[in-house]
Amino acid sequence: MAHDILIVGGDGDLALRKLYPSLFALELAGQLSNVSTITGVSRAGTAREELLDRMLPWLQALDDFDEACWDRFQGRFKFLKGDATKPDTLESYKSTMTPGGSGLIVYLAVPPKVFGGACRALKESGLAVPSTRIVVEKPLGSDRESFLNVNAEMSEAFDESQIYRIDHYLGKEAVQNLLALRFANVMFGALWDGNYIDHVQITVAERVGVEGRKEFYDEVGALRDMVQNHLLQVLCLVAMEPPTSRDAFMIRAEKLKVLKSLRPIRNDDIKLNTVRGQYVEGSLDGEVVPSYRSEVGEESRSKTETFVAIRAEIDNWRWSGVPFYLRTGKRMQTRASEILIQFKEPRHNIFASQGHALAPNQLRIQLQPDEGIKLHFLSKRPGLGDLAMEDVELNLSVPESRKKRSYDAYARLMLEVLNGDQTLFVSAEEVEASWLWIDEIIEQWQSAGVKAKPYPAGSSGPVDAAVMIARDGREWSDLEG
Ligand code: BG6
Repeated sequence: MAHDILIVGGDGDLALRKLYPSLFALELAGQLSNVSTITGVSRAGTAREELLDRMLPWLQALDDFDEACWDRFQGRFKFLKGDATKPDTLESYKSTMTPGGSGLIVYLAVPPKVFGGACRALKESGLAVPSTRIVVEKPLGSDRESFLNVNAEMSEAFDESQIYRIDHYLGKEAVQNLLALRFANVMFGALWDGNYIDHVQITVAERVGVEGRKEFYDEVGALRDMVQNHLLQVLCLVAMEPPTSRDAFMIRAEKLKVLKSLRPIRNDDIKLNTVRGQYVEGSLDGEVVPSYRSEVGEESRSKTETFVAIRAEIDNWRWSGVPFYLRTGKRMQTRASEILIQFKEPRHNIFASQGHALAPNQLRIQLQPDEGIKLHFLSKRPGLGDLAMEDVELNLSVPESRKKRSYDAYARLMLEVLNGDQTLFVSAEEVEASWLWIDEIIEQWQSAGVKAKPYPAGSSGPVDAAVMIARDGREWSDLEG
């Protein structure tokens, strides 16, 4: 039995850059055999052949592009011109669906203001049946209230078990590997709490600016764009209790508990434990990079943050007293995303009399640009004479020789949708809990008048972020780009 996939916004940026290439990667991997049709629907007057021509360069950019697969992919591909919020459009779509198929998958690659209308039309045209799955992604609202509104509209047509909310960070190889590292090995489980861990850092540093999304980004800023979703999801996977099984319900329940345990950042803490930044003119690779304000418009007096650093705390038994430092920014020196777990120093230093200080162990999980897991510990420097210590890196990454082709996060997530597994998707309760914590930070920024501090493009962010962590006697990790 076969699925039909309908992509609403079928000639848009997301569809071209991410969705068709990830479906094509699944075609290359032989994973589309249970998909009979892929239909892009759009109001614009694109013809099928024109759309295929536009998507082809994105597919050819994949390492193992193959003409035979391209032929197969074209065989599944259809284009429908029309407005997916109108039942008429969906009526004509119905006639192209596989008779007796195993379920429709609808990807709403359109702004959230269209979600409600599209879901209503799917319901009216009889397509919102229990086997239908609907896929959406951020922005899921701009605060808790707007998220609840958009979600209520979707819930009129679909049950929570049918809604797949994408956070593409959950599809990244290294993020998934974190689950294996924590729960398939006894070693780390025993050390994974405030008795042994000093603090955690989660960093997503980007070199890119706002690119083609100036208006959207200027409304949103780094806190809503990156922290509310990607950084908090990663934090949840680091901090959650061991779930009873890898079942979606169990994992999502554990992540939700973490989000609900995040301590609200209020009053004086807002200035101490959060930093907003905005890039000013600087340089990257010797090239001048204009300021954010001039990138969004020459006259702009934008106050939007392009960098944010937060000292978060989780009020539960496991993590009490362990700060989680989060930072993300655009136009930073290096593109690097990383989770750093810094362990405590040994309780007693038997080498102190020889003058050796003991550096703490660190576990570094690199998400990008390269994936990898490295454990840093101290070892005796080989040789005669005084016992001297040196930092040794134990590389726990999968060796290059064993790495298969790498898949984009979207390919993995699309496969999970086809499999009907919601584990890597975010529940409505999680989104709501994240917004609650973020909304309060935004309110407190407004009431305390917290302004974005300038940082030069190509730097590691505003000085205030370094000051924030230095206040605790710690420092940000150097990023490996
Ligand atoms: C998106 C943000 O969700 O994630 C972008 O809207 C950001 O601003 C992007 O650039 C980063 O994703 P990745 O996978 O390149 O780290």
